[in-house]
Amino acid sequence: MLILGIETSCDETAAAIVEETGDASRPWAIRSNVIASQVPIHREWGGVVPELASRQHIRDICGVVERAFDDAKATWRDLGAVAVTQGPGLVGSLLVGVSFAKAAAAASGVPLVAVHHLAGHIESLVLQNGEMPLPAVVLVVSGGHTSLYLVDRPGHYELLSRTRDDAAGEAYDKVAKLLGLGYPGGPIVDRLARTGNDRAISLPTTRLTHPDRNAPELRGDLDFSFSGLKTAVLRHVRSQAAPLSEREIADVCATFQRVVITVLIDRLFDAARRFQARSVGIAGGVSANSRLREELAGRGERREVPTFMPSLQLSTDNAAMIAAAGLRKFRAGIIAPPDLNADAALVL
Ligand code: KG4
Ligand code: ZN
Repeated sequence: MLILGIETSCDETAAAIVEETGDASRPWAIRSNVIASQVPIHREWGGVVPELASRQHIRDICGVVERAFDDAKATWRDLGAVAVTQGPGLVGSLLVGVSFAKAAAAASGVPLVAVHHLAGHIESLVLQNGEMPLPAVVLVVSGGHTSLYLVDRPGHYELLSRTRDDAAGEAYDKVAKLLGLGYPGGPIVDRLARTGNDRAISLPTTRLTHPDRNAPELRGDLDFSFSGLKTAVLRHVRSQAAPLSEREIADVCATFQRVVITVLIDRLFDAARRFQARSVGIAGGVSANSRLREELAGRGERREVPTFMPSLQLSTDNAAMIAAAGLRKFRAGIIAPPDLNADAALVL
């Protein structure tokens, strides 16, 4: 069976066709994966402008879907279902994908499947590598989220912890902005960090020990916090008499990156030990980070736990992961009503 996936939760208009393989250990194969990025539009503003994003999704969605069919050498008649990101995300952006998917499913007479964006990121690991040994602990780390999930059975995602303030990707983007490095900042900081000294300056690590009053169901000690770190970088930059040299900027990037990645990896493996995980994974835009990928592999080898990561193409937002998560739900018998609505704050 083929499924069409649609993703418009933020600033990428994406469509993909994914096929079931019939192999239980490696259940899905990508037939096409098309992304129209809006980065050049939002770069001018230093961040995503929601109204511009939703308007651009409207312009791009039809062409992106047509291209997904062309690349897959498939037609509407070959489809068994349509999957779409229902949330979380920017509501105007989500609405474009949800409206398109509802119309497409109704017109082709196939079921509609509503997908949580983060379930898509988690399933990108299975799409890439095949089924993970369960239970698995997965760190979803992007511009909007930094959360740990326990996957104890296929398609079941339990939130273990999340950031109390900024997401890790957001901290990368803000630090890049205050260093005058451009947008999106994550890949630029990652590149410069490789040339800098990661012990050059003193930056704080936040360790939360108390439960969050807004989420009493979580223990809280696996939570993340990055806003203090970002402020410390700002204070360091402001305390310098002269603008930072290229070398000093690289040192700030390297030190910032070491602190962020150490916290992410430490919490991920703390959780893995606590929940006796048989595998660990990283997903989401920041999982493209070179140091995070290296340290995940290294720590996994030392702890003798298999580690999973998506390809760079499947790290950032894409529709193939939404199609994959959609197939998982479809096979579990969960389909969406024809009056499905977008939900900007959808809970997984
Ligand atoms: O998953 P994604 O494409 O969109 C969201 O759902 O947020 O993630 C985008 C985020 C941005 O904050 C970007 O700066 C960050 O991922 N990112 C990186 C790297 N590549 C992308 N952060 C650190 N290192 C990278 N190499
Ligand atoms: Zn994402």
